[in-house]
Amino acid sequence: MSTPPDTQRPVSQSCGAASMEKIVSLCKRRGFIFQSSEIYGGLNGAWDYGPLGVELKRNLKNYWWQVTVHEREDVVGMDGSILTHPAVLTASGHVEGFSDPMIDCRSCKAHLRADQLVEKKGAKQCPNCGGKDLTVPRQFNLMFETHVGAATDESSIAYLRPETAQSIFVQFKNILEVSRRKLPFGIAQIGKAFRNEINPRNFTFRSREFEQMELEYFCRAEQGMELLEYWKKERLRFYENIGISHSKLHVLTVPDDERAFYSKGTYDIEYDFPFGRQELEGVAYRTDYDLSQHQKASGKSLDYFDEETKQRFVPHVVEPSAGVDRTVLALICEAYSEDQAPDEKGKMETRLVLRFHPRMAPIKCGVFPLLKNNPQLVAKAKEIVALLRPHMLVFYDESGAIGRRYRRQDEIGTPFGITVDFETLGEKDPALGDTVTLRHRDSMKQERVAIQDLPSILREQLA
Ligand code: GLY
Repeated sequence: MSTPPDTQRPVSQSCGAASMEKIVSLCKRRGFIFQSSEIYGGLNGAWDYGPLGVELKRNLKNYWWQVTVHEREDVVGMDGSILTHPAVLTASGHVEGFSDPMIDCRSCKAHLRADQLVEKKGAKQCPNCGGKDLTVPRQFNLMFETHVGAATDESSIAYLRPETAQSIFVQFKNILEVSRRKLPFGIAQIGKAFRNEINPRNFTFRSREFEQMELEYFCRAEQGMELLEYWKKERLRFYENIGISHSKLHVLTVPDDERAFYSKGTYDIEYDFPFGRQELEGVAYRTDYDLSQHQKASGKSLDYFDEETKQRFVPHVVEPSAGVDRTVLALICEAYSEDQAPDEKGKMETRLVLRFHPRMAPIKCGVFPLLKNNPQLVAKAKEIVALLRPHMLVFYDESGAIGRRYRRQDEIGTPFGITVDFETLGEKDPALGDTVTLRHRDSMKQERVAIQDLPSILREQLA
């Protein structure tokens, strides 16, 4: 018996099938994302990534690190602490000004961001209860404050960092000295940041604890605007390389009156989520504001000496700052699709497929013995798992009909399936001995390949 064809191709595809309800449900059901502290009712604005979510997130972060740090001569990495000295965030302006205007609804007691009020017949209303008895806006600082050590007074205040960028600025001189880089050069970091959002919402999109992938790319003042354009293009290319379609990406030029006062130019890279077009990443030309502020406040020089011109100056910086969790969510929304495909009896059924780019897919390959009660098939399948495991994350599954096993992998976006059948054992045709069927997730096409060629064939498609 050979592998039954995973029949015919899917006959229709509807890529617009993603709704947030379906995505949230799939994420929980298949172990991508769970609500934090769920058994105690959940902690608002915090999420836990399950076995598949953590793989997807790591694939994204590793690819960002690979193309931003490893493949470039002009970027080095760092990993800063989350607990931050208050002086850092005073100098950066966060203690004074990192806030959103907040309004309370006196009727239902909701705390609202001022821009979330709805307007009806010229009057502002609470979006929850329609109440019009609202307080005047007041500034609400988004930073999480904590205390370091046993004392809990003014002297022990520290903050959870609201962006990873500041630890890069305050380590600029140390890193410049040890890496001996010349301008332009960058320092990259991936890590957690925290913002006490007034209303976390849209699943993981706006969370209170989140991860950033930030690059601070230092340059001369005259290079700033040109590098802003360069990084905008690089970052768009990145999103396309992880499988986000060009048509769903948009670049917003942030208008002058909405830009941070120190920025000379900012682009938002946005994605069409099911809940609307929202920012994935900001690419901002932050001038020399941050380094100058820290130089002034610390009294330590944060300048750069140009050997050629013998000039000393504070570098300017262009910052591509991407949200990890937002991009993971975009990857899931982008990948989600439903098509109609025949089951093993030829009856049409809805097939749920996550069409992840193979680079991002949490599991790269499923390995299946056609029958679980045949020791030779099982042994061969396990040999293949051992052959592939050093190269990629593989998943062995022997339970249920083969068609069901394919569907389970389709639903979590596994791009390849390998089935060991009786032809593999050489029973039908000795020439087919030690060959398997390699099944492709999107087309459902199957091809016969030699076991020994599997690592190179798959590695090529995953590169
Ligand atoms: N560093 C920019 C941001 O956190 O949005």
